[in-house]
Amino acid sequence: MTTVNRIGIFGTSGMAREAGDIAWALGFEPFYVARDQAEVHAWCFPAPVILEQDVRHYTDMPYVIGIGEGGIRKAVAERFKYQLRFTNLIHPSATFGLAQREVIESCTGTIIAAGARLTSGISVGDFCIFNQNVTVAHDCIVGNYVHVAPGANVSGNVHLQDSCWVGAGAVINQGNLTKKLVVGSNTVVGSGAVVIDDCDPNAVYVGVPAKRIK
Ligand SMILES: CC(C)(COP(=O)(O)OP(=O)(O)OC[C@H]1O[C@@H](n2cnc3c(N)ncnc32)[C@H](O)[C@@H]1OP(=O)(O)O)[C@@H](O)C(=O)NCCC(=O)NCCS
Repeated sequence: MTTVNRIGIFGTSGMAREAGDIAWALGFEPFYVARDQAEVHAWCFPAPVILEQDVRHYTDMPYVIGIGEGGIRKAVAERFKYQLRFTNLIHPSATFGLAQREVIESCTGTIIAAGARLTSGISVGDFCIFNQNVTVAHDCIVGNYVHVAPGANVSGNVHLQDSCWVGAGAVINQGNLTKKLVVGSNTVVGSGAVVIDDCDPNAVYVGVPAKRIK
């Protein structure tokens, strides 16, 4: 495999292939990194795939982690942080408010998919995924390993703590300048939920208005 203009994408699932789509849109030729031989054998996509144990032969190119689940993304990032250079992947159709793009570019390993819109005053951690057509409004704080799934809308003054997952089409209502609305670390907000108040960490919330079910 030639290494010119390549980018390595950890994962072989749909999320990884969608990260690959962003890479193609940016002019990269993605290759994929499978966890094991079973994933390699199951691979039927017209792009190269290598085993995780072989990335040590390909250290002169950037990588992203195309794995939706924050805990797994974190484990991969921890395993390879001293060996590989992780980059951000920002689809050309993503849009940003004043000075917000610079904030994203100072992150490591954050993926912004097509049609995402982040306005301004938003702090963003590393290895986050802002999926297709999400919106994140002013003055939010987004921790590390957060995933905002397709079509979710995060209002202003919200704090998404580390490794939380906002499901597809969910809405997070706004906090305010003195008290942000907090979605706790590792919490999952179900698809289509409307969150109107703080969510505990390590929990699952669903429905309108969102209630804790786990
Ligand atoms: C919320 C979620 C994590 C729950 O998954 P789970 O822990 O496996 O829970 P279950 O499927 O066992 O469902 C538990 C209960 O919640 C209900 N429920 C599950 N998801 C729900 C949702 N999004 N909205 C409303 N109710 C929901 C189920 O009907 C079930 O109710 P019951 O106990 O009365 O039968 C999951 O359904 C979900 O919404 N995931 C996000 C999907 C998504 O956004 N994908 C995007 C990929 S990028």
